Amino acid sequence: MKSYETLDPTARILMGPGPSDVHPRVLKALSATTIGHLDPEFLKIMDEVKELLRWVFQTENELTIPISATGSAGMETCFANVFERGERILIGVNGVFGMRMTQVAKKYGLTPITFDKPWGEIIDPDAIGALLETEDDIAGVAVVHAETSTGANQPLEEIGQLCKKHDVIFLVDAVTSLGGIPVKVDEWNIDACYSGTQKCLSCPPGLSPVTFSKKALAKMDARTSDVESWYLDLTMIRKYWTEDDRAYHHTAPINMNYAIREALLILYEEGMESLFARHKLHSKALLAGLAELGIEPQVEEAYRLPQLNAVKIPDGVDDKAVRGALLNKYGIEIGAGLGPLAGKIWRIGLMGNSSNERNVIYFLSSLEQNISKSGAVAAAQKIYSE
Ligand SMILES: Cc1ncc(COP(=O)(O)O)c(C=O)c1O
Repeated sequence: MKSYETLDPTARILMGPGPSDVHPRVLKALSATTIGHLDPEFLKIMDEVKELLRWVFQTENELTIPISATGSAGMETCFANVFERGERILIGVNGVFGMRMTQVAKKYGLTPITFDKPWGEIIDPDAIGALLETEDDIAGVAVVHAETSTGANQPLEEIGQLCKKHDVIFLVDAVTSLGGIPVKVDEWNIDACYSGTQKCLSCPPGLSPVTFSKKALAKMDARTSDVESWYLDLTMIRKYWTEDDRAYHHTAPINMNYAIREALLILYEEGMESLFARHKLHSKALLAGLAELGIEPQVEEAYRLPQLNAVKIPDGVDDKAVRGALLNKYGIEIGAGLGPLAGKIWRIGLMGNSSNERNVIYFLSSLEQNISKSGAVAAAQKIYSE
């Protein structure tokens, strides 16, 4: 018989595009005893998860639940349920995840009209407004709030107002934004929004929180065709998550729901404002340190994400060698550039539990060693002492 080693993954410091460092309280919650998916105790946990999700999404939406799979399933849930075959959707494409939205929309027979911008830039709301004025059969507008492939922070408020004015659905990818920067679902007129657990919620990957406005629900209820997915069909999932007589649809991932409850509770205890201020502070310190090493941000200041810092790799520095040394010598994971930014940028995540002073200082000092430069740690410490 083949013998297998005992599972014992090396502890890392996760400073890439996700997953982020998982809080020990969340790991402990994951290992709590498994109960049944219709056990009254579990139903209470589900209600608390919905409540805490409404808090973090800043919404009163009734249908606010975690889909039992990763962020991409949340994306599919939104496209498959809210829209029907043949509908035309405006999709902002300025990175990997706008591209993925387009692929998913096509899979469900929708007609994406892409609005392309260079990676690292944002989608201009005026241009979306102009298209909504001239085209009268657009069913929705979809954009990525925090484009993890570029580090760009897409402003949403104006697009939300335009969608409201033209009575079209506003669909937002909040996978990397939720818990790191404000996601004001109600105030910004967002109709369908999905996220993931492994970014600023600091929970392992495995669930995708979603939320739907009354407008989105009315559109779903008025469908003339069946949802083209069995697993992600909200007409059935809703019965399990929101109705008094909870009907079985699929077996909820019980322990992942313990984990998300604990992760959201940790955020709730810290408080919304402190959460966002913490992400900003550590990004500021990181960028001050990197500037000292001649490493500049990729994204214009007004649109930079604090939780995903995309920075230009300086000339003469070996991308792979540095990332390899950071991982193998210091246990730090950072992300490589993707697509047109491959080899040109590093993506340094300071998400959720990973966003702390210890990580910033340790990363900068490890990087200094690797590229034989100094001054970064002192520059970051100056920010912390201000
Ligand atoms: C912005 C964004 N959208 C969607 C996804 C897809 O999520 P998942 O990989 O959890 O399926 C990711 C994952 O990194 C992401 O960063």
